[in-house]
This record gives sequence, structure tokens and C-alpha cells, in this order.
Amino acid sequence: MSAINARAIQTSAEIISNKKIGAYHHMVFAVDSIGATARPGNFVAISVGGPSSSMILRRAFAIYRASDKGSAGGHIELVVAPHGQGSKWLTSLPLHEKVDMVGPLGTSFGIPTQPARTILVGGGYGSAPLFGLAEILKTRGCRVDMVLGASSAGKIYAPLDGKRSVTSMTITTDDGSAGLHGRVSDALPKLIEENDSEIIYSCGPMAMLEAIQSIADRYGLVHQASVEESMACGIGVCMTCVVPLRGDDGIVRMSRTCIDGPVMDGSSVVWNSKGIIPEGTWGL
Ligand SMILES: Cc1cc2nc3c(=O)[nH]c(=O)nc-3n(C[C@H](O)[C@H](O)[C@H](O)COP(=O)(O)OP(=O)(O)OC[C@H]3O[C@@H](n4cnc5c(N)ncnc54)[C@H](O)[C@@H]3O)c2cc1C
Ligand code: FES
Repeated sequence: MSAINARAIQTSAEIISNKKIGAYHHMVFAVDSIGATARPGNFVAISVGGPSSSMILRRAFAIYRASDKGSAGGHIELVVAPHGQGSKWLTSLPLHEKVDMVGPLGTSFGIPTQPARTILVGGGYGSAPLFGLAEILKTRGCRVDMVLGASSAGKIYAPLDGKRSVTSMTITTDDGSAGLHGRVSDALPKLIEENDSEIIYSCGPMAMLEAIQSIADRYGLVHQASVEESMACGIGVCMTCVVPLRGDDGIVRMSRTCIDGPVMDGSSVVWNSKGIIPEGTWGL
């Protein structure tokens, strides 16, 4: 594994809670040292389907919250959308079942050394890593404005206890069934102007991240984006998760979102390449 995953372990993680909340399952796992070493933005890769399953690829999930305390020792929380075969299998498991888990994996969000005015933007289950981040930013004296968007009200994940970690919370839905009618990118400019935001943190679909980057460019803001590209191995071996990234030398290289990310400098990602390798990329 790369140095970025130096704290990662493989463990048999026991499910100690599994609750359906709206379109998602909030799941808690007992996880040995992962609870202590995980940072906001890291993810875990879980083996699905049981030992004789044909589903050979692990599934990646952002860590929603992590703790090294509690009656079950270290634990992590995930927010899982039962979507395809693997995530449906995972969310159907009963309490005390164990799953094979590797983590914490990938890069984490950078935390400002001085109190800063931050704005956190999540789309769908992309809100998952933002609540743990909000808690840390709040303890560092930062202003934390959060914007969560989804297609409809049931797909917003905004738990009551999570709202305590933010200065303000704005909800948007595509169909207008909760909060403002529209997308997170519609609400963002006004919030940035009102709160004089300095840093944007985001997690969600690629199109949302691209829209946020163009807003960050317009206002000259730092944008740390968690890029959740489809991942097969999750540990840097297979190259299925690559996105074009422009380095400080101006050269574009295909970079692995599983180990060079998922948290990346939004201004470095060549967002408009839409699944193609841009002209002039290193190695072409
Ligand atoms: C970093 C990261 C964090 C995530 N966090 C969350 C989260 O917090 N909550 C949540 O609900 N979901 C999260 N996801 C999405 C989650 O991993 C997928 O929903 C899940 O893998 C789908 O699995 P499935 O079995 O339900 O669906 P299926 O469709 O059965 O899964 C197919 C499998 O094939 C892989 N795959 C599909 N297309 C490609 C491709 N083009 N290249 C390589 N592999 C491919 C998928 O990654 C998956 O492993 C995250 C994904 C990433 C990358
Ligand atoms: S998922 Fe295999 S290299 Fe990133």
C-alpha cells in the first residue's frame, strides 16, 4: 500500500447498529484501530456478499464519523444507500454480523491552522464525510455553513445531532420537496457572499463538483473536493478510478482518486474531460 494508506488495517468489523433513515442506512461498526486513525474524508473498502460470493470487488464508503471510544471500543459510522447488489447485501445484514473491512483509506480534508469561514457542500450520500469534518472545524473555531442537496427530500441526509456542528444549514432539492427548489450550486453564490466564505469543502457527484469549482474560481476560493469516482480495488492497483489532474508544473497526469484522493484540490482537476484523457496528458 502507498504511504497515504500507512494507517490502514484489514479487520473483521462487527455491525453494532443498522438503522434505516430515509433513503439511507446509518450503520455503526466496531473496528479496532480504524476508529482512532480515520480522518474526515477517508473511506473504507468492504468485502460484500460473503465468502462464496461472485462479487469480488470491495465497495467503497466514506467514513461518516469515527471514534476510538464507546462501549464497543473503536467504531466508525457509515451512511449507505442501498443501490446495487453489494450495498443492498450490506444494508440487509443483521446486528453482530461481521464484515471484512480495509481502512482508513485515501486522503483526508485539510484543516485550516487558523479559524476560517468555511462552507461545506454535499450531494446525496456525499453529505456523509462532511459532518465529521464540521465537528473538527467547529472545535477549531471556524464558521461552518453547510449546504446539502438531493433530488428529493427523502435523499437528504441531515441528522439532528449533525446540525449542532454547523453555524447554518441550507437544504436544496431538485423537485422542491424540501428546502430551496434547485441545486446546491444555485444556493452557493449568495451564501458565499453573505458569509464571506474562504474555503469550500465538497463531496457528491462529479457534475456537482465541477459546478462548485466554477463558483470557487469566480470567487477565488480554495476548493477541497472529495472525488468519489467508481473504484474497483480502492488501493491504487487497478487504475479504474483515474481523473486528469494538472500538476504545479502545468502537466496533466491521470491520477488515482483512491490514493491521490478522494480529497483533491478542486482547481487541479480537469473537470470538463468527461471520461476522456485530455489532449496533451503526460504519456499520450
Ligand atoms: C470514495 C467513495 C466513497 C463512497 N461513499 C459512499 C457512501 O458514503 N455511501 C454510499 O452509499 N455510497 C458511497 N460510495 C458509492 C459506493 O461505493 C457505491 O454505491 C457502491 O460501490 C455500489 O456498489 P453496489 O454493489 O451497490 O452496486 P453495483 O452496481 O452492484 O456495484 C458495482 C461495483 O462495480 C464497481 N464499478 C462500477 N462501475 C465501475 C467502473 N467504471 N470502474 C470500476 N469499477 C466500477 C463499483 O465501484 C462497485 O464496486 C462511495 C464511493 C467511493 C468511490
Ligand atoms: S480503484 Fe484501483 S487504482 Fe484506484
